Amino acid sequence: VGATTLAQWPKVRRVWLFVDGTLLAILGDTVIDELGLDGLDVHVLEVPPGETSKSIAGLARIWDWMLGEGVDRSDVAIAVGGGVVGDLVGFAAATVLRGIGFVQVPTTLLAMVDSSVGGKTAINHPSGKNLIGAFYQPARVIVDTEFLATLPDREFHSGWAEVIKHGVIEGSTPGGEMGVLLDILRRNAPALLARESPLLPWVVRRNISLKASVVDADEKEASLRGILNFGHTIGHGVEASGYPLFHGEAIAVGTVAAMRLAAMECRIGPEEVETIEHLIADFGLPMRARVDPAEVRRHMEHDKKKAGGKQLWILPNREGLVTIERDVDPAHVDAAIASVVAG
Ligand code: NAD
Ligand code: GLY
Repeated sequence: VGATTLAQWPKVRRVWLFVDGTLLAILGDTVIDELGLDGLDVHVLEVPPGETSKSIAGLARIWDWMLGEGVDRSDVAIAVGGGVVGDLVGFAAATVLRGIGFVQVPTTLLAMVDSSVGGKTAINHPSGKNLIGAFYQPARVIVDTEFLATLPDREFHSGWAEVIKHGVIEGSTPGGEMGVLLDILRRNAPALLARESPLLPWVVRRNISLKASVVDADEKEASLRGILNFGHTIGHGVEASGYPLFHGEAIAVGTVAAMRLAAMECRIGPEEVETIEHLIADFGLPMRARVDPAEVRRHMEHDKKKAGGKQLWILPNREGLVTIERDVDPAHVDAAIASVVAG
């Protein structure tokens, strides 16, 4: 952060710094000191950890604080934390005074490889996750993989689901080479999981450039950006079904279902399914969830209505590409869901 980050706003005097409460508890003021904001007027607000902060009340608290303290249009909001802080503060930055500067400093793996990049900001509504939000690009995303040292294992593993997703879609991203990321993941799972591998920053960087290339080509998700939802069609259904899974864990289950569905549709063979299943297991992610398949279908139906009545399937094929499909045999969908729900 510091001078380089804020150089594009020469008039910046004041920074609104939002820090995840767990990080503040672990790192104390060092997390603020190390951002190099000397000389600026820095206002700090702790964001309580957890999805409940991504709420209308959580957003109103931020608006009230900033407006009460006299925010002005030349100010910059900096979000330091995981996807919760990034999504919430991004939406606050997009809306207060019709938009102020915004910088993301992601501190979870999921936020580094996925949520901090691409400008999707949102809060949740009682009728569903991420239903109120805006596309609002951060001017900078500052990534330091050293933050990952304190991340609990289950959170760390959860982030790998989005990395595996990027591995599956890599061949269909602009300029993306096929299979490079998957190959690195296959060969280096234990070292990457131990968080010591010098490859970890490389993997994070590759994920960011891969996602950025897709967003660059289709920011508002008219078509191509839809491929970033690989594994999310059934994954969201599983996530919404009440079983306490982290987002990445539900996406891992959805990824297994999507691969099996693609095999049932004769698009890929069993060996491609096995490769991804092994990766999911190697990265400590679940392949099944204890959920009611009828609930999963109900939530998928709900998502479909919100998306204009279209159920979109992002499915891999034998050429190593993914395509966005509408016509998928419903019996195969049921079988794919049944195959990932534990009895
Ligand atoms: P999170 O923000 O809830 O963080 C997970 C946990 O880790 C929290 O308890 C947090 O306090 C803690 N934490 C954060 N950094 C830490 C660190 N360095 N050391 C120790 N603990 C740390 O969860 P997440 O997985 O980062 O993000 C999930 C959210 O992201 C969801 O709300 C999801 O909807 C959203 N999301 C958004 C996008 C997007 O494109 N905007 C994409 C994927 C997910
Ligand atoms: N996480 C999916 C997207 O940003 O489009």
